[in-house]
Amino acid sequence: MSEVFLNKLRDQAIQLIAQGKSEYLSGATLEAKQGGYDKMKLGCQELVKYARQETSQQLCKIASDKLNEFTTEMQNMKAYLDNYRANLQGQTQLPPQQQQQQQQQQLPQNAQGQQQAKGSNGQSELNKSTNSKDGQEQGKQKLIEGQQALRNNLSTAIVTEKPNVKWEDVAGLENAKNSLKEAIIMPMRFPELFQGARKPWMGILLYGPPGTGKTFLAKACATECEGTFFSVSSADLISKFVGESERLIKELFNMARESKPTIIFIDEVDSMTSNRESGSGNEASSRVKTQFLVEMQGVGNNNDSVLVLGATNLPWALDPAIRRRFEKRIYIPLPDYQGRLQLLKNKMNNTPNNLTSSEFEDIAKMLDGYSGSDMNTLIRDASFEPLRKTERATHFKYTQTPEGMKFMACSPSDPQGKQMRMYDIKGGQLYLPQIEYDDFLSVLPKCRPSVSQGDLKKYEDWTAEFGQEG
Ligand SMILES: Nc1ncnc2c1ncn2[C@@H]1O[C@H](COP(=O)(O)OP(=O)(O)OP(=O)(O)O)[C@@H](O)[C@H]1O
Ligand SMILES: [Mg+2]
Repeated sequence: MSEVFLNKLRDQAIQLIAQGKSEYLSGATLEAKQGGYDKMKLGCQELVKYARQETSQQLCKIASDKLNEFTTEMQNMKAYLDNYRANLQGQTQLPPQQQQQQQQQQLPQNAQGQQQAKGSNGQSELNKSTNSKDGQEQGKQKLIEGQQALRNNLSTAIVTEKPNVKWEDVAGLENAKNSLKEAIIMPMRFPELFQGARKPWMGILLYGPPGTGKTFLAKACATECEGTFFSVSSADLISKFVGESERLIKELFNMARESKPTIIFIDEVDSMTSNRESGSGNEASSRVKTQFLVEMQGVGNNNDSVLVLGATNLPWALDPAIRRRFEKRIYIPLPDYQGRLQLLKNKMNNTPNNLTSSEFEDIAKMLDGYSGSDMNTLIRDASFEPLRKTERATHFKYTQTPEGMKFMACSPSDPQGKQMRMYDIKGGQLYLPQIEYDDFLSVLPKCRPSVSQGDLKKYEDWTAEFGQEG
């Protein structure tokens, strides 16, 4: 099926749903409301047809998320209609006040608060589209509903809970940590010190090779900062539905301003500026970019105390205008010797091992060129070695171990050893030897670093031109 046809099917479905919803909301009688509801249902069926034929997984997911959202709304509507019908058995129409109340009940509390809020952004749009007072009320209601739907969408995408990552958990990267403390933690704790020329940073970009701890560092900021932390990924902000991405971004910033001081963390921020593969992709992405620029600039909005923290491993893919909005650009490089040593020790801290300090240092030296995440993989692999050795053993002896009397693998020549396999031993009776230096040596050839010298050169060149060493 052609893309044009699919897009048409989708747009029709959306239009039908929007019409149905509007008729439902403005309908004064049961029939009118039921009519709107039925239309919305039809639209949803069309959207299901579209989703079944859509080949792009991302678009399919967006459609199914939308469907979930609509179905929840429709469940509320249906409950309301049933209630309405039950009431009608005694009288011809619901008293207006009761009707109003019931409609209000459908709005989550947040929206009701919004309704009372003065000077909302949508007010001017609203005045344009409606003339009569009634019309204004309806328009306002619709706007609030639309806004609420966006917020619901966003709130599932935004992660606000604090991850339990501390500054100490991030190995090395001292400069980056200091820059972040200066840019994020201090202005939140001592806002009075950041006056005049000492304005807090509004945009910070963490960039560097994959697996060097950019996301991890952002998590540490989230744990350590005192304000609100919103974490969204670009994928959550990009919607194929025309105009929706812009509204999502706008709403995200609105929400951030309401609960400031706020940090908005956007992971893989480059994908907001990269070209999209299908349909009106370029146009859509340029609108998204523009909206993002406007919001970051804070035109007509007070953006004090809202900081955008971005992370990317493709800094050169950023649009120059977006790059400029990230006033501070911090390079997160591969860990140096001290960083590797610290990471190694942190990781091995609660895993039984008999490594000496000099062995730790030796391993850290050998891992030059490995990223934090490469090291994670290697350490995990090494920690499996004792298990593999035990699995290969053909002889075991029942002996005193640090964990009491247990079976321990031994050499076939050991006089106490009995010929058996690991699987002959009952659970809880097997003693696993500690991780040792040799385990690292044996996995080292298998676990190669994932970042090449060529890649590193690109980051260094970009840093020389636009960045700051972290
Ligand atoms: N400096 C570090 N200190 C401690 N752990 C680290 C460090 N760097 C990386 N790690 C480990 O590697 C994992 C992957 O790191 P992270 O997800 O932060 O990489 P990233 O830089 O965001 O990569 P990408 O660019 O691919 O998104 C982390 O979960 C963490 O356990
Ligand atoms: Mg990341």
